[in-house]
Amino acid sequence: MSFASEVAAALERFPRVRLADFPTPLHPLPRLSKALGRPIYMKRDDLAGPALGGNKTRKLEYLMAEAQERGARKIVTYGGLQSNHARLTAAAANRFGLETHLFYFEPRPARLTGNLLLNQILGAKMHFVPLGAEGKGGMTLAMTNRLVRLLALLRVGPHYFIPVGGHCWRGCLGYVRAALEIEEQARGLGVEQGWVIAAAGSGGTLAGLMVGLRGVGSRLRALGVDIGKLWKGFPASIARVANEMSRHLALNRHFHASDVPLIEARYAGRAYGVPSDAGNEAMRMMARLEGIVLDPIYTGKALAGMFDLAGRGELGRDEPLIFVHTGGAPALWAEIKTKDAAARSADADA
Ligand SMILES: Cc1ncc(COP(=O)(O)O)c(C=O)c1O
Repeated sequence: MSFASEVAAALERFPRVRLADFPTPLHPLPRLSKALGRPIYMKRDDLAGPALGGNKTRKLEYLMAEAQERGARKIVTYGGLQSNHARLTAAAANRFGLETHLFYFEPRPARLTGNLLLNQILGAKMHFVPLGAEGKGGMTLAMTNRLVRLLALLRVGPHYFIPVGGHCWRGCLGYVRAALEIEEQARGLGVEQGWVIAAAGSGGTLAGLMVGLRGVGSRLRALGVDIGKLWKGFPASIARVANEMSRHLALNRHFHASDVPLIEARYAGRAYGVPSDAGNEAMRMMARLEGIVLDPIYTGKALAGMFDLAGRGELGRDEPLIFVHTGGAPALWAEIKTKDAAARSADADA
């Protein structure tokens, strides 16, 4: 049995519901490749899933399956105001007739825009609790999850809890599956080595890609671009989830925090949720050369990171680059943080 079929067989042991048609396309970006002087491809996970799709669809396939098995009636999760994960959770839960409760640790905005508007259309119950518990770099991801879980138990009663970004070993199995898809599609395109680059918010997409690509012995290397400086001990939390996945899949691989291919903070701009000039410029370049729209919070910043790293020679010279489009377009229609709020976050960072 090949490594790929071993990993695929291991994945089959975990229940999964279907929320999208997979595989998503992986295609060349000819005009961008010409501009950068090396082959560039895009994995189109922005096209996957309900309610405008995105990367969380893959995680939710596993998480919703577990919620169903447990007989849950209510789903709880949380995120930043423009969380795509929250919107996709609400959409996925609707498919199974489950009630969704979304927690936000900021005041309720005067107007609901972008993902918040979609949540409202989807009928999700939104709880705005301005405690400041959502990641601002001062708490670990695990601490934040524990706090929200407790709060949700008091407010909502029994529920199935999904950590921010679907960041847990079961959810991240979705990106192990994605890695198998990418490996197979890349081979079909004659790409045997290179980089697979994705935005890292909670880090689960990166964790799944790392485990999947290593598990199949791929010569493609995963790389995450931190878009928010959100979490204390970020690489360690990614390594922890990667190790839990490896254990559950019986892959016998161990990851240390220092093995996690994450570019921390460098391309995050002022703060999570605040677009950066470089990110906006990268978005424009993609739109104008390829007619593909990214988002200002995740994929724009990640692409800016990829451009900069490639320009500095940190991604080899001619190796192909596969950019994972993880979605997020609803934030384009969002009223994002005001300048004052951005300045406050910048002060807090200093
Ligand atoms: C559009 C988009 N891209 C990337 C990410 C990052 O994914 P992850 O949380 O798995 O790191 C998210 C979610 O946080 C997202 O919504």
